[in-house]
Amino acid sequence: MGHGQEHPPAGPAQDPHSRRLVVVSNRLPFTFARDAGGAWQALPGGGGLVTALLPVLRNRGGTWIGWPGATGDKEELESALRGAGTSAGYSFGAVDLLPDEVHDFYLGFSNEIIWPLFHDLQSLCNFDPAYWRTYCRVNRKFAEVIAAQSRTGDFVWIHDYHLMNVAAALRELGVGGRLGFFLHIPFPSPDLFLKLPWRAELLRALMCFDLVGFQTARDRRNFVQCLRLFEKDVEIEGRGHVLAARLGEREVRIGHFPISIDYAAFRRQAEAPEVADKARELHERLPGRRIILGIDRLDYTKGITLRLRAFRNLLDRHPELHGKVSFMQVVVPSREDIPQYHKLRTEIDQLVGQINGSLARPGGWVPVWYEYRNLTRLELLAYYRAADIALVTPLKDGMNLVAKEYCACSVEEDCVLILSEFAGAASQLGRGALLVNPYDEEGVADAIRAAYLMDPAERRARMRRLRASIREHDVFWWVDSFLQAAITRDLRDYPQPGGPWDDALDYQLPF
Ligand code: G6P
Repeated sequence: MGHGQEHPPAGPAQDPHSRRLVVVSNRLPFTFARDAGGAWQALPGGGGLVTALLPVLRNRGGTWIGWPGATGDKEELESALRGAGTSAGYSFGAVDLLPDEVHDFYLGFSNEIIWPLFHDLQSLCNFDPAYWRTYCRVNRKFAEVIAAQSRTGDFVWIHDYHLMNVAAALRELGVGGRLGFFLHIPFPSPDLFLKLPWRAELLRALMCFDLVGFQTARDRRNFVQCLRLFEKDVEIEGRGHVLAARLGEREVRIGHFPISIDYAAFRRQAEAPEVADKARELHERLPGRRIILGIDRLDYTKGITLRLRAFRNLLDRHPELHGKVSFMQVVVPSREDIPQYHKLRTEIDQLVGQINGSLARPGGWVPVWYEYRNLTRLELLAYYRAADIALVTPLKDGMNLVAKEYCACSVEEDCVLILSEFAGAASQLGRGALLVNPYDEEGVADAIRAAYLMDPAERRARMRRLRASIREHDVFWWVDSFLQAAITRDLRDYPQPGGPWDDALDYQLPF
């Protein structure tokens, strides 16, 4: 980040070394496993957020606080975390959750209320009042750990929908420092948000942060509209990507910052000879076929069943494509303890079975190649690199990083991205991708055919444009934009329109 441009925090002079970054997310960026001797080991996670924040955490020093996601002896887990912290170059703080808290806070409030509601799937919500109580209690637990582990002057950056109440709890604990929040998922329109029984409390809780960041202009607009409904006296000022909302004495910055990936790392790794070999191997196993790829976490927001129906629609209406296309759908196991996820898995199994059952020929073409598992990094890169068409068709998505990873790995630039209008990524990638409405089965099928028939010059031009945008606005740019918005004293000094923002959000959706 642009450390040099930082302003000192308000208040008494600080030791510059004490101004650290405290990152808070529901999960710690670790997975726990027992080593051969039976002792717990914390294995670093490789997610984009960790990669992006690592340089800042190392330069400024800092802590990452979260739920270890494992149940085991507290002492043992903490010693594993200390070991992990030493090798990572920053420290970790664990928030222990009891099994009933995991149930009501994580599975319940977070993933059976906020997740479906914020993805416009209100009918899947289970508005159990016990969930809300536990959500508040667990957010308070997080706040207690943050209060104990942070120092005056630290910047605390809280992530995602599990932790929307943490600033309110910290303020109750008397923590007055600067707090930022980034919502990785969409923020719904007022029509949907109003369904939430705890809507007023939640909005008020979000207004306890100093900066609230969203993925897209639409999410931010939705939030501002909700705020105006509940806080009649709120004054919103500013133009561009970061606004100031004034409510009495408080001023809260509200911005949008499209998250991204470590483009250079994906590109470099995808260029490796072993990735090229594996991608070639895939094509050899599917001779003469174009590979259409879908990679998603098991989730009903990802539109996997509708996508399979669209593929069947394509094959029904265009028998000339039989034997010419293979659809590889990878589903990564996730949240399997939630009944809706279980149900979805069965539905996918059945649909794949029906499509292959009616069209596959022994020893010959199998229309859908379906894998339900975690991919290794090498496999992921090779699948991206091998795919001629990526089908990224969520019903709704905060951003969707699969779309960006696919483009970064498409080193030959000879392929097509088909992207849902309802993915946050559409506002950035809409000009290079073929945009579709995931609910429009025939429209998605037509887009696959258009991608199949697209001439190579157009494929290249589109993919080049996509890759340039992602390269320029990568995850480091995202971290920098957010932190600058948080620490710039006067918003007029913040690079509003005229900065990279205009290019990042270069496509305006027709609604
Ligand atoms: C989404 C959320 C993340 C979450 C991830 C995996 O991307 O925005 O906060 O960590 O899904 O879900 P899980 O429930 O396994 O943490």
